[in-house]
Amino acid sequence: MRVGVLTGGGDAPGLNPAIKGLVYRGSELGLEVFGLFDGWRSLLNPLPDVLPLNRETVRRWDRDGGTNLGSSRTNPFRQLMDDGGFQDRSGEVIANIEELGLDAVVVCGGEDTLGVAARLAHSGVRTVGVPKTIDKDIAGTDYTLGFDTALRNISEVIERSRTPAGSHGWVQIVEVMGRHAGHLALWSGVAGQAHIILIPEHPFRYERVFHLLKDRLGKPGLSRGTSQRPRYAVIVVAEGARAEDGEMITIDDRHDTFGHVRLGGIGDVLAQRIASETPYESRAVILGHPQRGGPPSAIDRIMGLMFGARAAEAVAENQFGKMVSARGIAPACELSLVDISLALGKISLVDVDRDYDIDRYHLKNIGM
Ligand code: F6P
Repeated sequence: MRVGVLTGGGDAPGLNPAIKGLVYRGSELGLEVFGLFDGWRSLLNPLPDVLPLNRETVRRWDRDGGTNLGSSRTNPFRQLMDDGGFQDRSGEVIANIEELGLDAVVVCGGEDTLGVAARLAHSGVRTVGVPKTIDKDIAGTDYTLGFDTALRNISEVIERSRTPAGSHGWVQIVEVMGRHAGHLALWSGVAGQAHIILIPEHPFRYERVFHLLKDRLGKPGLSRGTSQRPRYAVIVVAEGARAEDGEMITIDDRHDTFGHVRLGGIGDVLAQRIASETPYESRAVILGHPQRGGPPSAIDRIMGLMFGARAAEAVAENQFGKMVSARGIAPACELSLVDISLALGKISLVDVDRDYDIDRYHLKNIGM
């Protein structure tokens, strides 16, 4: 069987291990694998370029972050035209898949890219999904590739932000990605032992944040020498977090072809409010795309290899319109195939009742 593989949406560490897993397991199952470039975009070209992938080509890919096939946020069902309107060009994608003689396409992506795979599956295209996103917000799976590496990256920054914050005695705000989900903020905040964590699932109150800071820091300037009080605090805020009386903050008002705006800026707003409404100085850093950067963590390598191998098996078993799904995380992990449609619509969010302390703005029952 001839199988195409593509990676769409935001890059995530773990994608290259997944491609290696697909190629290696696929070679045992008689699959020929071809890389398609830049997500769905390549299949909108009149003559798509493909990269034959064999064991030799991908041998070292498990060590690589990002995606060696490139990525894009392309929605073939809603392509922007020169006149500003939108056009459904999915027919060209289907024609190209036939032209390339592909029997199936393995689609590594988040909700949007997998959504395209699900819609194409309805038109008879044989697709298998592999879930990835640092946001870990895809329903139907406990794990999405990239999450663990992003946690590692963020908690390293939190760790490094302690010395400047401690030396100068300020409130350091670290704004992290995650869109509408707070998994990245909550768990990186716990790993980095941030003092306050603000997530989109529970709108916060500025007054409460100020109170928690006062509780920790007391009066500025009085703590040197005589007191054991800490002189600084770290707040992790998710880009999608918002105050009870406020809106989510966006970088601008442009929408991509999946209808998303780019979130970002709440960290600066919070720093300004702290500086103007409390006695503390504050600094904000927006971590941005390096959160997704660097080599995959051990977990993302293992999960990527396993997801890719399971996708190869799904193709060989003729199980299409499915997504690889994990229950648990390696080493205690069971993989299965679920309907891709499970991944769409409702995103997976932090379970506030179970995990979030709405008074202390932190993980529940961890002892602060
Ligand atoms: O979905 C992954 C993600 O990194 C989100 O956390 C973030 O909001 C978004 O992508 C950023 O989009 P872009 O990569 O297009 O700037």
